[in-house]
Amino acid sequence: MALLDKHKIIETNATLLLVLSFLVVAIGGIVEIAPLFWLQNTIEKVEGVRPYTPLELTGRDIYVREGCYVCHSQMIRPMRDEVERYGHYSLAAESMYDHPFQWGSKRTGPDLARVGGRYSDEWHVDHLTDPQSVVPESVMPKYGFLLDKPIEPTYIQDLLKTHRFVGVPYTDEMIEASAADYTAQADPDSDYDGLLERYGENSVQVRNFDGQAELTEMDALVAYLQVLGTMVDFSTFTPDESR
Ligand code: HEC
Repeated sequence: MALLDKHKIIETNATLLLVLSFLVVAIGGIVEIAPLFWLQNTIEKVEGVRPYTPLELTGRDIYVREGCYVCHSQMIRPMRDEVERYGHYSLAAESMYDHPFQWGSKRTGPDLARVGGRYSDEWHVDHLTDPQSVVPESVMPKYGFLLDKPIEPTYIQDLLKTHRFVGVPYTDEMIEASAADYTAQADPDSDYDGLLERYGENSVQVRNFDGQAELTEMDALVAYLQVLGTMVDFSTFTPDESR
């Protein structure tokens, strides 16, 4: 009883309660936050994760512009139902070059973190043009106008430089060659060896993504969707349990 009596002193004295609550929260906060200042890096390095190619980065900008994140998340949580539906849970490293990240907080549609390679390019073009034509009950809006919007790499160097400014390791060579890499990725008849050399052969896909001769916003968006979640090879990936 004596203990409860002492607690009563705290409970009936607002100032004392405030001061003590603050102390408790402050200690808890320090314990959680302080160690982060001594860690070199809180993101585990994972093989395969690379900066986006110029075309993918452009597609990503279109994704952001069109507000796809309003209905789609890009983060698979480590819970069984999510992992069974979408695949391996998302790793921090997989969004380390995303500025801003696209984790999202709303799932009107499915998570897209691993949608890359799940459908064909034609499926994506059909679906984006008229979602109800492939998924009759869909409430997703139509984005067919992207097929009529030609794109050119006018500002691509600036875009890469901006991302380098916030920490994405684009090299001088990548920035130099960005306009060439941009068009090469959507043209299988082009000389795309440099593109593969710069970004690695594993996850860079070179195709005419929207099936039209002209390079359009649809090409860029589909190139972006098709790379999502494909950079890490999960058949060989083992999480680093030591940290
Ligand atoms: C109003 C909400 C909404 C918006 C905005 C939206 N979507 Fe969707 N999306 C959905 C819904 C609902 C589905 C599930 C039905 C379907 O497949 O159409 C879906 C499905 C998808 C799928 C198939 C995913 C899968 O695993 O089957 C892709 C890919 C996709 N959306 C891409 C996009 C892109 C890219 C944009 C932006 C250009 C976008 N969505 C904008 C609601 C939305």
